Amino acid sequence: MATKRKYLIAGNWKMNKTAPDGVELIEGILNEIGSQSEVGVAVCPPFTALESAAKALADTNTITLGAQNMHPEPDGAYTGEVSAAMLRTLYVGFVILGHSERRQYFAESDAFINQKVIAALENNLKPILCVGETIEDREAGKTLEVVETQLKGGLVNVDKKQAEQIVIAYEPVWAIGTGKTATPEMAQEVHAAIRKMLTDIFGSDIADKIRILYGGSMKPGNAAELLAEKDIDGGLIGGASLEAKSFGKLVEAALAQTKADG
Ligand code: PGA
Repeated sequence: MATKRKYLIAGNWKMNKTAPDGVELIEGILNEIGSQSEVGVAVCPPFTALESAAKALADTNTITLGAQNMHPEPDGAYTGEVSAAMLRTLYVGFVILGHSERRQYFAESDAFINQKVIAALENNLKPILCVGETIEDREAGKTLEVVETQLKGGLVNVDKKQAEQIVIAYEPVWAIGTGKTATPEMAQEVHAAIRKMLTDIFGSDIADKIRILYGGSMKPGNAAELLAEKDIDGGLIGGASLEAKSFGKLVEAALAQTKADG
């Protein structure tokens, strides 16, 4: 394999944590993980907690701030929305795009998500592009077809030079918040297929550098075996990211795997 990718453990807080609660969680996480740079760590609070989170992180490079969504336009009459430039002023480095909850509850299409991916890259934000099948898709044998449509749809017109900035998150919808996790073998199978699709789009040099995270009920009890898989480069974590101890344990698992990989 080409050079091993740096693991990324990213917490997706979803619609949880007020600004003060977020600061408390960040302080707890910093306490748990200490200062290390071998594993990338990110937290994605709700918009209302970003500014206070940025202040809580001002003295450390250990954790990068992420947002959970953004609008593709730079400004304008889009009530309730937030632009890439607005996020950049709060030192946001990552932005989750196309999460299945956005696709499901807010009817986001691949074309719209693609506009956001392009706008994020133009503004030096690293997109975490989420893809994943529903249980119906999986039972119908359509997992890879659905993932391919979402992946290729989200990456239309992405400049090869910027592609390395992108992070992909494979999140089987049936595993999100349900306590059901894909087995490491099931996840690896899809991650390897995604790597192949990325190779078709960008070539193998770039595809080998793009991190593919697993998401869906990742927790301290199952992280090690998932992270040990060849094409699983970290996790996008919901439930287990809301508590400093469990999130810290996930970072620890990635650190242990980094050491094991040599
Ligand atoms: P979960 O959420 O870890 O609570 O399953 C993951 C996600 O939706 O990103």
